[in-house]
Amino acid sequence: MTNHRPKLELTWIGKENRPRLEPRILLEDPEKSYHAAHRVADHDLFDNRLIFGDNLLALKALEQEFTGKIMCIFIDPPYNTGSAFEHYDDGVEHSLWLSLMRDRIDVLKSLLSLDGSLWITLDDNEAHYCKLLCDEVFGRPNFIGNVIWEKSDSPRMDAEFFSSRHDHLLVYAKDKSRTAWNRIPVGEDETPAHYDKLDESGRKYYLKPLRAMGGQGDSRATRPTLFFGMTAPDGTKVFPKRQDGTDGAWRWNPTKVEEEKDRIDWVNGRNGWSPYYRIYADTGSGRPPETIWPHEEVGSNRTSKAEIKQLFPDLIPFGTPKPERLLKRVLTVASNPGDWVLDSFGGSGTTGAVAHKMGRRWIMVELGEHCHTHIIPRLKKVVDGADPGGITEAVNWKGGGGFRYYRLAPSLLEKDKWGQWVISKEFNPGMLAEAVCKLEGFTYAPSETVYWQQGHSTERDFIYVTTQHLSADQLAQLSDEVGPDRTLLVLCAAFRLPAGWAAQAGVSKDGTERYPNLTVKKIPKQVLSRCEWGHDDYSLKVENLPKAPPKPGQMELI
Ligand SMILES: C[S@@+](CC[C@H](N)C(=O)[O-])C[C@H]1O[C@@H](n2cnc3c(N)ncnc32)[C@H](O)[C@@H]1O
Repeated sequence: MTNHRPKLELTWIGKENRPRLEPRILLEDPEKSYHAAHRVADHDLFDNRLIFGDNLLALKALEQEFTGKIMCIFIDPPYNTGSAFEHYDDGVEHSLWLSLMRDRIDVLKSLLSLDGSLWITLDDNEAHYCKLLCDEVFGRPNFIGNVIWEKSDSPRMDAEFFSSRHDHLLVYAKDKSRTAWNRIPVGEDETPAHYDKLDESGRKYYLKPLRAMGGQGDSRATRPTLFFGMTAPDGTKVFPKRQDGTDGAWRWNPTKVEEEKDRIDWVNGRNGWSPYYRIYADTGSGRPPETIWPHEEVGSNRTSKAEIKQLFPDLIPFGTPKPERLLKRVLTVASNPGDWVLDSFGGSGTTGAVAHKMGRRWIMVELGEHCHTHIIPRLKKVVDGADPGGITEAVNWKGGGGFRYYRLAPSLLEKDKWGQWVISKEFNPGMLAEAVCKLEGFTYAPSETVYWQQGHSTERDFIYVTTQHLSADQLAQLSDEVGPDRTLLVLCAAFRLPAGWAAQAGVSKDGTERYPNLTVKKIPKQVLSRCEWGHDDYSLKVENLPKAPPKPGQMELI
């Protein structure tokens, strides 16, 4: 969010508190990663990522590699309905929900590419508050729209007031002026219901009256050349007549009528024969997405539950999956094959499954155990081509590719028995170097031959991280090896300069003036103030949330 306060603003208790997140490293678990046994196509994608853990830390962990790279983010967060679901806790007080979402949406925005978009599903519990929140994060001009998704196909008879039939999809662009969406190809499953007729070759179409209607141009007086007789199937001549019986006009002139005669259908109605013309579904460059997405086109909650049940008949079904066609619509419009797609509230893994089948690269984050019980088995089936459901047939998915499974590394620092921050015992030298690279903004890329080149910020600027105490001789040797054309940042547990140096004029404490190619710092001191350490769970779980302020009345949104 920007620092200057907007004139119109939603406030809530704790809005000003922002976590200072530790940029964790991600640890791959090859046992849980999965790849197809064979290449299925040249464009198979293997580098997809499934991350197990809290999404705030996971998103922060992705920042170094993915800032500005994600084309489409779809999130389906807990709606804050107050109801407890089988697999996760959904009832968080409004202010806390807003803070937790704001922190995540902030990082999500930084991950989006300049032409990317964020899609958030919510219901009436929080959608309107989230709209204001996103206006603040993205800027109101970057609001693209609010899609109404028809989530249910029948009323709930036990509803006290409305039986809610829709969810919201709030859609924001990182920068609307740079966003260019795809149209929806008018094809098989996407064909709107009003294309209700089939021609001899199976093409879908609907009929529109050939008589001009409404506006200035529907009368003989205004369009005299469009008033002429057309021959009906029974041989009679039919002239365009307006509703009030006066002379009207056709939409087409006689030449066009002759050229397009195969598209003209005659209908014998109450007032006799009338000509209509066919509008085919599969012509043109597709249609723009509309703001109402009916369940017939993109599925409903009933559809998605059936999809999950079909995939895993013996598992306790995941409570709130989204239908694959809903995600297909989002990804069709807002991404292209090869683009990165992200869902940081993975659930049962619908976004990853659909992205995979559509040739997009994907990242999903999920903190619940269903990451292992539902997402991994689902994505394995997708990779194996063993998931015939959802959009598989529509996109002709045959299997292939794979994904890597990661978990978040523990915090780099932990407190020792005297309450001092020290490097966590769980970090081996490789992990330590990678974590410090991330903190210092270096790319971790350890050289196989030069021990002090563990990462770089430019072609000539390197980083070396060690838990050793470096002696004056070791520093002198390092400086020699680095040479005059390169620079090195050295982070070590302690170091010693030659006796008397510190007291000499012109010699800085870290020796930089003696060794102009070296900057020497101590860890953990150097990184201590960068972020908050040892904080493992920023999740939406109620038991992990900060305590509410004392006066209950104050917790309401202002
Ligand atoms: C509504 S579900 C998403 C369903 C998903 N769209 C699907 O089609 O299956 C929300 C998910 O977000 C997960 N979640 C909630 N808080 C999270 C957090 N802090 N980090 C990661 N995942 C979280 C929940 O465990 C739950 O699986």
